Amino acid sequence: MNTKAFANTRVGQVFIRIMAAIMESRLRYRFFGPGRILQGADLQPGQTVLEIGCGTGFFTLPAARLLGDQGSLVAMDVLPMSVEAVTRKVQSANLKNVRVVQGDALNTKLAAKSVDAILIFGVIPAPMLPMDQLLSEMQRILKPGGTLSVWPPSWVQRTIVQSRYFALRGKRHGVSNYERS
Ligand SMILES: C[S@@+](CC[C@H](N)C(=O)[O-])C[C@H]1O[C@@H](n2cnc3c(N)ncnc32)[C@H](O)[C@@H]1O
Repeated sequence: MNTKAFANTRVGQVFIRIMAAIMESRLRYRFFGPGRILQGADLQPGQTVLEIGCGTGFFTLPAARLLGDQGSLVAMDVLPMSVEAVTRKVQSANLKNVRVVQGDALNTKLAAKSVDAILIFGVIPAPMLPMDQLLSEMQRILKPGGTLSVWPPSWVQRTIVQSRYFALRGKRHGVSNYERS
Protein backbone atom coordinates (compact mmCIF):
# COMPACT_ATOMS: atom_id res chain seq x y z
CA MET A 1 0.00 0.00 0.00
CA ASN A 2 1.39 3.45 -0.86
CA THR A 3 1.13 6.66 1.21
CA LYS A 4 -1.87 8.00 -0.70
CA ALA A 5 -3.86 4.78 -0.36
CA PHE A 6 -3.00 4.61 3.36
CA ALA A 7 -4.16 8.23 3.79
CA ASN A 8 -7.56 7.25 2.43
CA THR A 9 -8.13 4.63 5.11
CA ARG A 10 -9.75 5.54 8.44
CA VAL A 11 -6.61 4.60 10.38
CA GLY A 12 -4.56 6.62 7.91
CA GLN A 13 -6.67 9.73 8.41
CA VAL A 14 -6.32 9.57 12.21
CA PHE A 15 -2.59 8.92 11.88
CA ILE A 16 -2.13 11.88 9.54
CA ARG A 17 -4.03 14.24 11.86
CA ILE A 18 -1.85 13.19 14.80
CA MET A 19 1.32 13.58 12.71
CA ALA A 20 0.25 17.03 11.52
CA ALA A 21 -0.31 18.16 15.12
CA ILE A 22 3.13 16.85 16.11
CA MET A 23 4.81 18.44 13.08
CA GLU A 24 3.36 21.85 13.90
CA SER A 25 3.72 21.65 17.69
CA ARG A 26 5.31 24.48 19.64
CA LEU A 27 7.70 22.01 21.23
CA ARG A 28 9.00 21.04 17.81
CA TYR A 29 9.54 24.66 16.80
CA ARG A 30 11.25 25.31 20.12
CA PHE A 31 13.59 22.32 20.30
CA PHE A 32 14.04 21.35 16.62
CA GLY A 33 13.66 24.75 14.96
CA PRO A 34 13.76 24.56 11.14
CA GLY A 35 16.29 27.40 10.81
CA ARG A 36 19.14 25.60 12.52
CA ILE A 37 18.49 22.29 10.77
CA LEU A 38 18.32 24.03 7.39
CA GLN A 39 21.76 25.55 8.03
CA GLY A 40 23.06 22.00 7.74
CA ALA A 41 21.93 21.83 4.10
CA ASP A 42 23.88 25.01 3.24
CA LEU A 43 21.27 26.32 0.78
CA GLN A 44 22.43 29.28 -1.29
CA PRO A 45 20.49 32.24 -2.71
CA GLY A 46 19.50 31.63 -6.33
CA GLN A 47 19.42 27.83 -6.13
CA THR A 48 16.64 25.64 -7.45
CA VAL A 49 15.62 23.27 -4.67
CA LEU A 50 13.17 20.40 -4.36
CA GLU A 51 11.68 19.60 -0.96
CA ILE A 52 10.32 16.07 -0.77
CA GLY A 53 7.38 15.50 1.60
CA CYS A 54 6.72 19.11 2.64
CA GLY A 55 3.93 17.97 5.02
CA THR A 56 2.63 20.99 6.91
CA GLY A 57 5.40 23.24 5.55
CA PHE A 58 7.59 23.21 8.66
CA PHE A 59 10.74 23.61 6.53
CA THR A 60 9.17 25.16 3.43
CA LEU A 61 8.92 28.83 4.34
CA PRO A 62 12.34 29.18 5.98
CA ALA A 63 13.95 27.27 3.09
CA ALA A 64 12.28 29.55 0.52
CA ARG A 65 13.55 32.63 2.36
CA LEU A 66 17.13 31.32 2.20
CA LEU A 67 16.84 30.99 -1.59
CA GLY A 68 15.74 34.57 -2.13
CA ASP A 69 13.95 36.11 -5.12
CA GLN A 70 16.34 34.59 -7.66
CA GLY A 71 15.98 31.08 -6.25
CA SER A 72 13.05 28.72 -6.37
CA LEU A 73 11.66 25.95 -4.22
CA VAL A 74 9.42 23.13 -5.37
CA ALA A 75 7.60 21.87 -2.27
CA MET A 76 6.25 18.43 -3.11
CA ASP A 77 3.93 16.13 -1.22
CA VAL A 78 1.86 13.19 -2.32
CA LEU A 79 -1.12 14.17 -0.14
CA PRO A 80 -3.60 16.83 -1.33
CA MET A 81 -4.18 18.01 2.26
CA SER A 82 -0.46 18.82 2.64
CA VAL A 83 -0.44 20.68 -0.66
CA GLU A 84 -3.47 22.73 0.41
CA ALA A 85 -2.00 23.55 3.84
CA VAL A 86 1.38 24.60 2.43
CA THR A 87 -0.20 26.60 -0.40
CA ARG A 88 -2.16 28.59 2.20
CA LYS A 89 1.01 29.23 4.23
CA VAL A 90 2.97 30.31 1.17
CA GLN A 91 0.21 32.67 0.05
CA SER A 92 -0.20 34.28 3.45
CA ALA A 93 3.59 34.76 3.67
CA ASN A 94 3.45 36.27 0.16
CA LEU A 95 6.34 34.12 -1.04
CA LYS A 96 6.67 34.16 -4.81
CA ASN A 97 9.54 31.70 -5.17
CA VAL A 98 7.68 28.56 -4.03
CA ARG A 99 5.73 26.16 -6.21
CA VAL A 100 3.69 23.69 -4.17
CA VAL A 101 3.15 20.50 -6.12
CA GLN A 102 1.15 17.37 -5.48
CA GLY A 103 3.54 14.67 -6.63
CA ASP A 104 5.22 11.40 -5.84
CA ALA A 105 8.87 11.38 -4.84
CA LEU A 106 9.27 8.09 -6.67
CA ASN A 107 8.32 9.73 -9.97
CA THR A 108 8.62 13.50 -9.58
CA LYS A 109 8.09 14.27 -13.29
CA LEU A 110 10.82 16.92 -12.99
CA ALA A 111 13.40 17.19 -15.77
CA ALA A 112 16.68 15.30 -15.49
CA LYS A 113 19.55 17.28 -13.88
CA SER A 114 17.23 20.19 -13.09
CA VAL A 115 17.72 20.88 -9.34
CA ASP A 116 20.71 22.12 -7.35
CA ALA A 117 19.63 20.59 -4.07
CA ILE A 118 17.07 18.18 -2.67
CA LEU A 119 15.79 18.21 0.90
CA ILE A 120 14.39 15.02 2.39
CA PHE A 121 13.65 16.18 5.91
CA GLY A 122 11.54 14.16 8.34
CA VAL A 123 10.45 11.74 5.63
CA ILE A 124 12.71 8.68 5.55
CA PRO A 125 12.89 5.93 6.63
CA ALA A 126 9.31 5.26 5.56
CA PRO A 127 7.91 1.80 4.84
CA MET A 128 6.02 3.12 1.82
CA LEU A 129 9.09 4.69 0.18
CA PRO A 130 11.34 2.04 -1.39
CA MET A 131 14.86 3.45 -1.06
CA ASP A 132 16.27 2.12 -4.32
CA GLN A 133 13.47 3.68 -6.35
CA LEU A 134 13.64 6.93 -4.38
CA LEU A 135 17.43 7.30 -4.69
CA SER A 136 17.37 6.48 -8.39
CA GLU A 137 14.81 9.25 -8.99
CA MET A 138 16.74 11.73 -6.80
CA GLN A 139 19.95 11.01 -8.72
CA ARG A 140 18.14 11.51 -12.04
CA ILE A 141 16.87 15.01 -11.23
CA LEU A 142 19.91 16.31 -9.33
CA LYS A 143 22.42 18.40 -11.30
CA PRO A 144 26.04 17.19 -11.31
CA GLY A 145 27.64 18.80 -8.26
CA GLY A 146 24.23 19.12 -6.57
CA THR A 147 23.44 18.01 -3.03
CA LEU A 148 20.96 15.59 -1.53
CA SER A 149 20.36 16.55 2.12
CA VAL A 150 18.69 14.14 4.53
CA TRP A 151 17.52 14.73 8.09
CA PRO A 152 17.29 13.24 10.70
CA PRO A 153 20.34 10.98 10.84
CA SER A 154 19.37 7.32 10.96
CA TRP A 155 20.24 3.92 9.59
CA VAL A 156 19.12 5.13 6.17
CA GLN A 157 22.53 6.76 5.86
CA ARG A 158 24.04 3.31 5.49
CA THR A 159 21.51 2.38 2.82
CA ILE A 160 22.25 5.59 0.91
CA VAL A 161 26.02 5.17 1.11
CA GLN A 162 25.79 1.54 0.04
CA SER A 163 23.59 2.45 -2.91
CA ARG A 164 25.20 3.08 -6.29
CA TYR A 165 23.55 6.49 -6.46
CA PHE A 166 25.12 8.72 -3.79
CA ALA A 167 28.28 9.18 -1.71
CA LEU A 168 28.41 10.96 1.66
CA ARG A 169 29.97 14.43 1.37
CA GLY A 170 29.64 15.44 5.03
CA LYS A 171 27.36 16.14 7.99
CA ARG A 172 26.28 19.40 9.60
CA HIS A 173 23.69 20.13 12.29
CA GLY A 174 22.50 16.53 12.02
CA VAL A 175 21.93 16.86 8.27
CA SER A 176 23.72 14.33 6.05
CA ASN A 177 24.76 15.76 2.71
CA TYR A 178 25.36 13.50 -0.29
CA GLU A 179 26.67 13.99 -3.80
CA ARG A 180 25.94 11.95 -6.90
CA SER A 181 28.20 8.91 -7.26
C1 LIG B 1 6.40 12.84 8.59
S1 LIG B 1 5.89 13.94 7.32
C2 LIG B 1 7.16 15.18 7.37
C3 LIG B 1 6.75 16.49 6.77
C4 LIG B 1 7.81 17.59 6.81
N1 LIG B 1 8.96 17.28 5.97
C5 LIG B 1 8.25 17.88 8.21
O1 LIG B 1 9.34 17.43 8.63
O2 LIG B 1 7.49 18.52 8.93
C6 LIG B 1 6.25 13.04 5.85
C7 LIG B 1 5.62 13.63 4.61
O3 LIG B 1 6.10 12.92 3.46
C8 LIG B 1 5.03 12.77 2.55
N2 LIG B 1 5.28 11.65 1.64
C9 LIG B 1 5.25 10.34 1.93
N3 LIG B 1 5.47 9.60 0.84
C10 LIG B 1 5.66 10.48 -0.17
C11 LIG B 1 5.92 10.34 -1.56
N4 LIG B 1 6.03 9.14 -2.12
N5 LIG B 1 6.05 11.45 -2.31
C12 LIG B 1 5.92 12.69 -1.76
N6 LIG B 1 5.67 12.88 -0.45
C13 LIG B 1 5.53 11.79 0.33
C14 LIG B 1 3.83 12.52 3.45
O4 LIG B 1 2.61 12.77 2.78
C15 LIG B 1 4.10 13.49 4.61
O5 LIG B 1 3.50 14.75 4.39
